[in-house]
Amino acid sequence: MPHIVTLPGDGIGPEIVAPTVELLHRLVCDLTVVEHLFGGASIDAHGTAMTPDVLAAMRASDAVLLGAVGGPQWDTTDPDAPRPEQGLLGMRKELGLFANLRPVRPFPALYDASPLKRDRIEGTDLLVVRELTGGIYFGEKTRSATDASDLCHYTVAEVQRIARVAFRAARTGVTSVDKANVMETSRQWRQTVHEVHAAEFADVPLDDLLVDNAAMQLVADPSQFDVVVTENLFGDILSDVAAMLTGSIGMLPSASLGAQSAPGVFEPVHGSAPDIAGTGQANPLATFLSAALLLRHGLGLESEAQALESAVDRALAEGLRTRDLGGTASTVEATAAVLAHL
Ligand code: IPM
Ligand code: MG
Repeated sequence: MPHIVTLPGDGIGPEIVAPTVELLHRLVCDLTVVEHLFGGASIDAHGTAMTPDVLAAMRASDAVLLGAVGGPQWDTTDPDAPRPEQGLLGMRKELGLFANLRPVRPFPALYDASPLKRDRIEGTDLLVVRELTGGIYFGEKTRSATDASDLCHYTVAEVQRIARVAFRAARTGVTSVDKANVMETSRQWRQTVHEVHAAEFADVPLDDLLVDNAAMQLVADPSQFDVVVTENLFGDILSDVAAMLTGSIGMLPSASLGAQSAPGVFEPVHGSAPDIAGTGQANPLATFLSAALLLRHGLGLESEAQALESAVDRALAEGLRTRDLGGTASTVEATAAVLAHL
């Protein structure tokens, strides 16, 4: 019996996770679902963004569905205060979720919702493969009254394993993004990616791109890309850039995967949107599409994943538009529209 943990989190998180669970029950009849507090909600209840019990529950599950974490009430510059994001980062590290997959495939029905012109985004179908457990996010941090520092650190083994994920996912090629003209970690990243390529994936076309140029190319000519692989911080930034190709960051799903034995975590790329929390206006589609990734990568249910993705496609083709896409559909209406096609 497939068993998943849900972590609705904060802001719009609970509003988008609840209808997603409804869809999952519709698709998987013997699914068991257990919900836990996470992020700011967990800080309020327990003083920490992720309790050991919740981590243990995740470990015992087949997959985790996450909403979003954070909100102004927990924003702080005090290095010792708990922050909701510590739950996210702790979970990634503890579960060893080193590979973050962010597919960007603008929906034809939404071409005109993108801030970019239709002819720029047409044909775009790319995958950002972001390294998720290394780099500056997890390097040593220091702070005194007069200075602060964050260390960017990567081992060769960390680069090799994310490079393999990228090469395996490639259909037409891999673009490795770095800042090798400035950073030592990037120079070793580039060399390592090329070594893995030569030894194991020589038939896959491989290009290197500096991160500033990559940001420009993603906006100027996104359809040139297939798989874009990059380190943690660059991947964070570039995936938000790429998200806008779909018209709204409210459309972008993600999967965070580790070793075979660890459950994957599936979540929308967008945040907790505290400004619209509680209004019933949140776009649940990125979470629905994350649930499709959960079905595919977490539970091995490919046809159910496709059924959900095509239900979203058809609802959009029939005119479903939430506020972020320039329409008026509420979360409830968006859910009904997708359910109608399931
Ligand atoms: C993301 C988010 C997180 C990150 C934040 C909330 C810590 O922006 O998943 O992209 O930077 O990784
Ligand atoms: Mg981000």
